[in-house]
Amino acid sequence: MRLFILLIVAVLLLGCLGTAKEPLPPLDVPKEYIVMENPVPHTDASVAQGKRLYAIYCTVCHGEMGEGKGEFEKSLGKRPGDLTRAIHERTDGELYYVTMKGFKKEMLPYENLLKPEEIWHLINYMHTLS
Ligand code: HEC
Repeated sequence: MRLFILLIVAVLLLGCLGTAKEPLPPLDVPKEYIVMENPVPHTDASVAQGKRLYAIYCTVCHGEMGEGKGEFEKSLGKRPGDLTRAIHERTDGELYYVTMKGFKKEMLPYENLLKPEEIWHLINYMHTLS
């Protein structure tokens, strides 16, 4: 019996180790953006706007569910950021900055395509992906 309990404890511990992920690497985002609050309230209307914009601009790379399994995965040679993790581990201001300025070589900046308000709608929508 004791062995049985030990075995269960060992399996549970291993399970925890297996799911513990490395934290996302820090982003190069100015401090004032990291602490920036989302000025657009998280309403159904905002989420709906964000969903519409996401389908147009982001799904192709980040995938419908934000997990990075979009069409571009193969041609980029790597999987675009997993937004379902980023929304939990980044601040809204960080997501805003990355969307506005782009990321590394692969993701273009959106500051000329989207109004600030539209980027916040996108962030409200991304919070519904998990
Ligand atoms: C051409 C493909 C492409 C498109 C289109 C694209 N992205 Fe990205 N995105 C990437 C790549 C590649 C990364 C970086 C992945 C890495 O190196 O970790 C990234 C990273 C991100 C990150 C940072 C994730 C993190 O690790 O914190 C956010 C936020 C993001 N994208 C949001 C968006 C939003 C919002 C849109 C639509 C407006 C969008 N992206 C459109 C390719 C794309």
